[in-house]
Amino acid sequence: MASIRRTLSPYNDRSHQNGGNTSPFSLNSPSHKHNTTTRFASPLSTFSVGHLAPRKGHRTWRRLVYVCMLFFLLGFLLGLAPFGEVEDVRSRDFSFEVNRPPTLDVKEDIVVDKVELAAVEEREVVVKERFDYDVARKQLIVVTPTYNRALQAFYLNRLGQVLRLVPPPVLWIVVEMNEASTETADILRGMGIMYRHLVCTKNLTDIKDRGVHQRNRALEHIEYHKLDGIVYFADDDNVYSLELFETMREISRFGTWPVAMLAQSKNKATLEGPVCNGSQVIGWHTNEKSKRLRRFHVDMSGFAFNSTILWDPKRWNKRSSALIRQLDTIKEGFQETTFIEQVVEDESQMEATPFGCSKIMNWHLHLEARELGYPKGWLLQTNLDAVLPIE
Ligand code: UGA
Ligand code: MN
Repeated sequence: MASIRRTLSPYNDRSHQNGGNTSPFSLNSPSHKHNTTTRFASPLSTFSVGHLAPRKGHRTWRRLVYVCMLFFLLGFLLGLAPFGEVEDVRSRDFSFEVNRPPTLDVKEDIVVDKVELAAVEEREVVVKERFDYDVARKQLIVVTPTYNRALQAFYLNRLGQVLRLVPPPVLWIVVEMNEASTETADILRGMGIMYRHLVCTKNLTDIKDRGVHQRNRALEHIEYHKLDGIVYFADDDNVYSLELFETMREISRFGTWPVAMLAQSKNKATLEGPVCNGSQVIGWHTNEKSKRLRRFHVDMSGFAFNSTILWDPKRWNKRSSALIRQLDTIKEGFQETTFIEQVVEDESQMEATPFGCSKIMNWHLHLEARELGYPKGWLLQTNLDAVLPIE
């Protein structure tokens, strides 16, 4: 076997290749010993004797020829030695291909392997830093209500690809009304993240705020399965930074931060969310006079909370054990504050996220795209303005 040959010393290998111990040219063979020791000494002595006794000239010349042959043979054997080395290296190289692990007697292999190892270790460190399963990270439970419309694929792909970059564990709960659409299912299946595709089957004739029922369906699911993590309501059409999701993991009970609102009608960006002093919430940014009566001025995408509040309220010394839900009867703009009031008593139970609330980490867009056509199943039956290449 090739691997066994590699472990033998090159010297043994060489002797084998040169014919082994049975070879007449072997340095260890009895015949060789005879040639080198016995004959080597005697012809010289015989030569000197022959020189003193010319009568025995014929025998002396014969011995001289033997001696010459012997030296020739010796030189020939020595000459073979370097070729034997080359053969050894070749056999080692061959066995290296068959049997990967390098040994210390092949210098080049060690260098190459060191370089490869360094590259592998570097890659592992990068992957480990981002996706280190050993580190106990809080799970993020991202809740997204969605429905089929022109920009849905764009929105879901954009959000899904940000979530894909967030170090796990991340669970994306996507909720649709009445039935799970194939369009949404296809996008989720190809996203490469952990998700649950839920359906809200409430048969309501007059739905004021449809996202609310879908979010409640997700809350039921988290509660029923006692999912442990940080719950975040992420509408499909908003823009989220990677930093937002990483920061969320620092939340213990309830975290909140300011959100930038971008509306075509207002033609400017406005802030909604907490004013902070370190980790404390000391006030609120608000722009709308009609919403001044709200207790907490936060956007739906401007807070996240610990899921255990839903199914283990005692852990948080919560007085009421009533279900925490979004309400469909609430005046527009008051949905968030009404929900938050069920999770915390006041600002003292809130955590400014991140420290000082100094960053904008997500943007709430109000962009209308009503006039855009929505291709059912993302297939265009007509209007395929295909141009064939000119031959
Ligand atoms: C605002 C609030 O920020 C939302 O919390 C609230 O649910 C929403 O109004 C509302 O009143 O429905 P806004 O940006 O105006 O948000 O609403 P959309 O972006 O149209 O919808 C919010 C989320 O609900 C999106 O993820 C959207 O896909 C979803 N949605 C909306 C549905 O799943 N079905 C619908 O019929 C409408
Ligand atoms: Mn929106």
